[in-house]
Amino acid sequence: MLLILFALAVPVLLYIYVKWKYTYWERRGVAQAEVKFPFGSFTNAILRKMTVEQNIQQFYGKFKDRYRYFGMYLFFQPIWIVTDLNLIKRILQSDFQHFTDHNFYHHNNEILTNNIFNLEGERWRTLRTKLTPTFTSGKMKMMFGIVHDLSKQLKTLVESHVNNKPLLVTDAVARYSTDVIASCAFGIEANCLENPDAAFRKYGRKIFEPRPYKFLFEQFVNWDVLAALGHQFHPSDTTKFFLEVVKETVEYREKNNIRKNDFVHLLLQLKNTGKLTEDGDLTNNSQGILTYRDVAASMFIFYGAGFETTSTTTSFLLYELACHQDIQDRLRDEIREVLEKHGGKLTYEGLQEMHYGQKCIDETLRLYPPLAVHMRKCSKRYQVPDSDLVINKGDVAILPAFSIHRDPNVFPNPDEFNPENFSDEARAGRICSAWMPFGDGPRQCIGMRFGYMQMKTSVATLLSNFRFTLHKSTPTKLTFACNTITMTAVEDILLDVSKVD
Ligand code: HEM
Repeated sequence: MLLILFALAVPVLLYIYVKWKYTYWERRGVAQAEVKFPFGSFTNAILRKMTVEQNIQQFYGKFKDRYRYFGMYLFFQPIWIVTDLNLIKRILQSDFQHFTDHNFYHHNNEILTNNIFNLEGERWRTLRTKLTPTFTSGKMKMMFGIVHDLSKQLKTLVESHVNNKPLLVTDAVARYSTDVIASCAFGIEANCLENPDAAFRKYGRKIFEPRPYKFLFEQFVNWDVLAALGHQFHPSDTTKFFLEVVKETVEYREKNNIRKNDFVHLLLQLKNTGKLTEDGDLTNNSQGILTYRDVAASMFIFYGAGFETTSTTTSFLLYELACHQDIQDRLRDEIREVLEKHGGKLTYEGLQEMHYGQKCIDETLRLYPPLAVHMRKCSKRYQVPDSDLVINKGDVAILPAFSIHRDPNVFPNPDEFNPENFSDEARAGRICSAWMPFGDGPRQCIGMRFGYMQMKTSVATLLSNFRFTLHKSTPTKLTFACNTITMTAVEDILLDVSKVD
């Protein structure tokens, strides 16, 4: 009898528990997305029928005109999706102290996870203050030479495709980006442009391999417990590879007193003196000493956060330019004018004058933001302005950049590539949080300047020499891969290349 009662009670209790969990938002008066056991509202993304951002976009379209936010569930975890642009702006900027963290696993046991992207609270703030001066425009100008030299190697690679077999643009640009960031962040010649199977490319790819199960554990299990159970954010061979490169580089530089114009040099200055030199003079401002662990984690994250983002954006831009020959011509004209003005040379100053180029990149980032949603963990109880809703410490918010970028009320004809979305007039008519491929506020992408420099340099070098057209096998509408962390096309982006006079 007891056994029968127990057998009946278990499913009933389970049902009540699931129902209770799945009405968290409803009970708080928040509209909620459809929910299905066991994946919550992310069934389509988890079963890889669509990307995470498309999964969110489905519900965004349904709710955004009626509500400032709505609720979703990742398995049983409530996720707060904010659609109101003013509220997003507050969360990222003026109310930032309530949402300081990204909610990415980090633990002292795993040195590379203690990087600026994953760190939280005071530890993040201290590191961010120390690293910010390594990204000033003066420092970018210092590194421009390395980036420019590598863009010439990219040109040589692309040249071999002129009137020849089509260029797999994603691969070529990824190899260039890997060489650039490996050179600036690790101070080594990765040689991916010459050798597509170089170790840096192999391990670079591994950083971006999807890790859905690990991610889920990190959401639901205490991080100290996970670490004690041997959990690792990165595969151990990847960690080993990068730590060895860091060790060799740091030892070599310090033993031989080598100075190069790259991030490694800046990080080592901070490690040894807590200060940076500006035009050869030590700055008066002490940034604070970096530890060896900070240096290793920073070299790693500059590489990890920098190469895939810039490489996918450049690939999508070249793809759109191949689809829109008029825009490609106009951009080429601007590049040539700027080159002429600077004595036929590509210079750092010249890059800043490529205003149409800037619009084209910004439009690409609108259509294809590499990080399509921004996650924030509530770090301090938040009373939502003009509402009764309270977001508690530890709750997770998502700011759906991709959905907003593709919202017809924010950007007319949102699926069209139109650089005029970034004319002064169009910008002035929009609230800043309508376009946020780099995030915003104190936690905004620290490498934005470097990213622009790298992308503009390669595009200027390529367009001043080549014309790109769509290869017959490349579709005019791309589909997005469901198994990648950054936005990536399923299809190979193959372009035909011809020389321009
Ligand atoms: C197209 C280029 C890039 C895009 C679209 C991009 C996008 C982003 C986004 C969305 C974030 C999170 C911002 C937030 O939460 O508000 C971020 C953070 C970050 N990015 Fe980038 N990024 C790019 C290039 C780079 C480059 C080239 C580097 C390094 C050389 C870099 C290093 C970082 C770092 C270290 C962070 C963490 C900042 C922090 O948490 O304080 N990124 N990036």
